[in-house]
Amino acid sequence: MMKTAVIYATKTKHSKKLAQAIGLFLDITVQNITENPVLDDVDLLFIVGGIYGGASMPELLAYIKTLEAPMPKYAALVTSCASGSQKQIAVCNILEEKGIKVLDEFVCKGRILFVSATHPNAKDLKAATDFAQKIVAGGLK
Ligand SMILES: Cc1cc2nc3c(=O)[nH]c(=O)nc-3n(C[C@H](O)[C@H](O)[C@H](O)COP(=O)(O)O)c2cc1C
Repeated sequence: MMKTAVIYATKTKHSKKLAQAIGLFLDITVQNITENPVLDDVDLLFIVGGIYGGASMPELLAYIKTLEAPMPKYAALVTSCASGSQKQIAVCNILEEKGIKVLDEFVCKGRILFVSATHPNAKDLKAATDFAQKIVAGGLK
């Protein structure tokens, strides 16, 4: 059976909300990167994170750099940002450098002050779980 894990990095807890929605849907416990999650024999890794000044949290990048074999085979990214359009480019690059294939990235809006003020909302959480379902249902080769 495919082993899936969900990790998140957050400053203002939106990514935690998204990760928990996905974890609930997949029936797995999600882990904050501050807990330094150990990813033994994981086939598919969901990484949920926000964007700050156009970039991911340095702590998330540092954590991903520490991943060692046996590494996850695949990753899927879930990204929270006020613009609703910025991606976790550095995360994606580090993963690909390590031979972890990034299947897809789902970006959703996350509030900062008055920008995207109602996000993430119930619709966003549903869209995130729909994304997770699509990734899992896609089957990994
Ligand atoms: C210090 C800071 C910088 C941010 N910079 C950006 C940015 O460059 N682009 C963007 O779209 N959103 C930006 N945001 C908004 C966050 O990406 C958004 O609030 C996201 O939901 C945060 O995720 P988190 O709650 O998991 O930390 C910024 C937020 C903070 C607090």
